[in-house]
Amino acid sequence: MVKKVEQWHWSFLNKINYYFLVKLGVSVLLAGLAFLLIFNKSSDSSAILSAPFVENAISDDSVRKEKCNIFIGDWVYEAEPRYTNSSCSFIEDHQNCMKNGRPDSGYLHWRWKPRDCELHRLDPRRFLDLMTNKSWAFIGDSISRNHVHSILCGLSMVENPIEVYHDETYKSRRWLFPSYNFTLSALWSPFLTYAATFEDSNGISAGDIQLHLDVLDKNWTKQYKSHDYVMLSVGKWFTKTAIYYENNTVLGCYNCTNSDLTKLRFNFAYRRAMRTVFDYILESNHEGVTFYRTSSPDHFEGGEWFSGGTCKRRAPVKEGEFELNKPDKLLRDVELEELEKILAKASEKGVNLRFFDVHLMSLLRPDGHPGPYRFYQPFAEDEKAKVINDCLHWCLPGPIDYWNDVLMEMVVNG
Ligand SMILES: *[C@@H]1O[C@H](CO)[C@@H](O)[C@H](O)[C@H]1NC(C)=O
Ligand SMILES: *[C@@H]1O[C@H](CO)[C@@H](O)[C@H](O)[C@H]1NC(C)=O
Ligand SMILES: *[C@@H]1O[C@H](CO)[C@@H](O)[C@H](O)[C@H]1NC(C)=O
Ligand SMILES: *[C@@H]1O[C@H](CO)[C@@H](O)[C@H](O)[C@H]1NC(C)=O
Ligand SMILES: *[C@@H]1O[C@H](CO)[C@@H](O)[C@H](O)[C@H]1NC(C)=O
Ligand SMILES: *[C@@H]1O[C@H](CO)[C@@H](O)[C@H](O)[C@H]1NC(C)=O
Repeated sequence: MVKKVEQWHWSFLNKINYYFLVKLGVSVLLAGLAFLLIFNKSSDSSAILSAPFVENAISDDSVRKEKCNIFIGDWVYEAEPRYTNSSCSFIEDHQNCMKNGRPDSGYLHWRWKPRDCELHRLDPRRFLDLMTNKSWAFIGDSISRNHVHSILCGLSMVENPIEVYHDETYKSRRWLFPSYNFTLSALWSPFLTYAATFEDSNGISAGDIQLHLDVLDKNWTKQYKSHDYVMLSVGKWFTKTAIYYENNTVLGCYNCTNSDLTKLRFNFAYRRAMRTVFDYILESNHEGVTFYRTSSPDHFEGGEWFSGGTCKRRAPVKEGEFELNKPDKLLRDVELEELEKILAKASEKGVNLRFFDVHLMSLLRPDGHPGPYRFYQPFAEDEKAKVINDCLHWCLPGPIDYWNDVLMEMVVNG
């Protein structure tokens, strides 16, 4: 099964290269045409194939990109962790593994290394300089929020941001880096499409989620165009029990108890919702850059979160050594199939949509989750205490910090 996933992964990435080559081909052709139109009168057409403009069409940058896929790599040893629980004050308690008493620290000593090139580490000053007068929004679920806090830790080494907004639940928040007039928003929208949910005070669904697959969640669309950079990412919430709607009519449900409804699979819902989101993006005339981050897999072993699953590994794995959990595989398949189609359409329409594939980087880090250290000193009173493990979110500092090296590369070098 693992092999198969890899194959899909590769075939997908090869196709990306294919689009890139087609695009390149078209630009060389257009450049050639332009050259013809401009110089036709005065020059011999055989000059078209002569060096200078052909070389310009293939810039160093694109050659580099073609050769090196920064999403394919390995975790290699790094001597110094980038920050600690004491040097960053933006770590949320549930991800503060050091403070919560996680005893080992090996997980802090790995950095992401693409196989075919070197990746520069996030340079917070350079990043902030580039972001002067700009705004970023990270839209999605709690992993998206986890990512925002990682970025806050990375950037706060240069300047402490000021929180300028939060909603009543602190799920959506905005920070300002005053010297740079740069705003960074975390926006809660775990389906991107509209969901009527009934939550009790512990955040546990008390009733089925009613998910409208063809209606966008206005909470993010109403501010989408006002951001220069947007990172969208969802996934896990689609694996929950839900009733699905389209055109205000019930289509069916996943894992529901109502026997009258058509039984549907959650990957059906994820696919429909992604299409709704991408149709919107392609038509929105947003002038900025939109990233779609692929879902971040979990590493529960020996059960699920509710049935005693744990993540006890203490080192990264190599590709092929950890099998993707089944729900994650279903989500991944949808992402690969849909993103392939969407990227082709986006490049036709000139929409700046980028795909931020954290799949492999994340899959190889079963050691980077809080596990029982989601809670403060979970074994202080009873060293055999039964604690629900978190093998989904990421410790801070932790592997997710290295997503930002990749992000920096994509922002700086296009
Ligand atoms: C950081 O973690 C250490 C344990 O590793 C703990 O003693 C200390 O109180 C923590 N500091 C903060 C600011 O959370
Ligand atoms: C940022 O915006 C201010 C006010 O509009 C302007 O004076 C300044 O030049 C801008 N800085 C950059 C780097 O764009
Ligand atoms: C901050 O940036 C915004 C654009 O994002 C600009 O409209 C505004 O004038 C800037 N403010 C200052 C104080 O530079
Ligand atoms: C929008 O956000 C608010 C506050 O965070 C929340 O109460 C509301 O349910 C959200 N709306 C949708 C459509 O998700
Ligand atoms: C499916 O429903 C049952 C009870 O109705 C619930 O206990 C279980 O957690 C649900 N499974 C998922 C994946 O939501
Ligand atoms: C949506 O439902 C309305 C009636 O509520 C119907 O008239 C319309 O044709 C439906 N549209 C689609 C696309 O199914």
